[in-house]
Amino acid sequence: MLFSDVAKVYPLPAGDVRALDGVSFRVDRGEFISIMGPSGSGKSTLLNLMGCLDTPTEGDIWISGTRIRDMSDTELTTLRRDRIGFIFQYFNLFPLLNIIENVTFPMMLKSGRDVDPERGKEVLRAVQLDEKLFTHTPTELSGGQQQRVAIARALINNPDILLCDEPTGNLDSKTGAGIMELMTELNRNGTTVIMVTHDQNIANYSRRTIRISDGRIVP
Ligand SMILES: Nc1ncnc2c1ncn2[C@@H]1O[C@H](COP(=O)(O)OP(=O)(O)OP(=O)(O)O)[C@@H](O)[C@H]1O
Ligand SMILES: [Mg+2]
Repeated sequence: MLFSDVAKVYPLPAGDVRALDGVSFRVDRGEFISIMGPSGSGKSTLLNLMGCLDTPTEGDIWISGTRIRDMSDTELTTLRRDRIGFIFQYFNLFPLLNIIENVTFPMMLKSGRDVDPERGKEVLRAVQLDEKLFTHTPTELSGGQQQRVAIARALINNPDILLCDEPTGNLDSKTGAGIMELMTELNRNGTTVIMVTHDQNIANYSRRTIRISDGRIVP
């Protein structure tokens, strides 16, 4: 992944906000990176651009050698769905679906029909969620358990790149450490992991930190 002089501007009535301002860096396949910086410095904006959930105002982004600007909407949707796993800060699970249905939802989007619940169970076992909870709904789970479900959902289509916005932000430190062991294991198996965190203990699990301040990378 390559960012070349990327800027993101949010036009607001009070004036433009340059959330990112001339950001350039590259991420190699198989890296484990943390993104750190003060609140409002542009971390989530950066992660959203990496996940192709948003597009830059200026500059260019390449993923696996393809320039995002040159991709059609269909190609972008396929890229997001098949190659990128996104773990949101507040889990974003569907409250009316049970755990297996939540986890297999991106698979259903991919195939367009009913999916094999066995694959859902497989990833849920991989994130070490208690089997008894598989048919429960998200509100019946603790924060750490919901985070495991959100990770399982991000992994269901075997992404090459896993993007996480504060993956342990709402968890106690012991549960957070368990989640980080899981991330480390995924990275060891070849997944590129990029996570936003404000916690140095969590960043220590990564092998490189990108620091950002006022929308710029701190050298
Ligand atoms: N959709 C939006 N519309 C307008 N301004 C936005 C939007 N999203 C973010 N911003 C602004 O862009 C800047 C960067 O926001 P961003 O969410 O990337 O920060 P962050 O580093 O993730 O902060 P935090 O640690 O609090 O999550 C902030 O000034 C924010 O107010
Ligand atoms: Mg943020």
